[in-house]
Amino acid sequence: PDRGERPAALLAWYDRHRRILPWRPPAGVPADPYAVWLSEIMLQQTTVRAVGPYFEKFMARWPSVKALGAASLDDVLRMWAGLGYYSRARNLHACAVAVTRNHGGAFPDTEQGLRALPGVGPYTAAAIAAIAFGRQTMPVDGNIERVVSRLHAVEEELPKAKPRIQELAATLLGPERAGDSAQALMDLGATICTPKKPACALCPFNDGCVARLRGDAETFPRKAPK
Ligand code: ADE
Repeated sequence: PDRGERPAALLAWYDRHRRILPWRPPAGVPADPYAVWLSEIMLQQTTVRAVGPYFEKFMARWPSVKALGAASLDDVLRMWAGLGYYSRARNLHACAVAVTRNHGGAFPDTEQGLRALPGVGPYTAAAIAAIAFGRQTMPVDGNIERVVSRLHAVEEELPKAKPRIQELAATLLGPERAGDSAQALMDLGATICTPKKPACALCPFNDGCVARLRGDAETFPRKAPK
């Protein structure tokens, strides 16, 4: 598809191939901000596969942010055991307390408001704003960096290329369904535009992907030597 048609092509691909994940409501059903936040915190340093059962356990025991905010930190840490990066669990609890006390149990619905919460950085704020509130913002994680840097053959190295990639990623947002656009790119990066041996034949962008046309998709994103 031409540049201007990419957002629609991406959503059409998502409508056919969308992964069923525990934190995703059925197509067309609005997302619960609490479930989106909980899943995004868990997914920060942990794979989709490992997060699944923990997400289910947390939602069963604490079905709302108020319930989680009323829990003891010890109970939350015990339930988190095995997921790793325990500062996430401490921030999770602190955030639930803050949303309960300072926001009456309703998550802020802007990126800026979300950024002020414990444990919520730029990526997570954008993910919640787009997925839970339909805000026109594109959260850029490692998967999305890979897709976008290949699509445009971005020669600049990470991390310097981040602002450019963010800007290019935002052009893939349609005028509506920002959360689906974001999750479509995440799924594309996880299942098609993989680090090794990407399945370019199945990609909705393949006819316009500069790296693929050059035959060196696997070499993106460029990274500064450590
Ligand atoms: N990784 C981080 N957030 C995700 C989401 N909402 N869906 C799939 N993978 C993700």
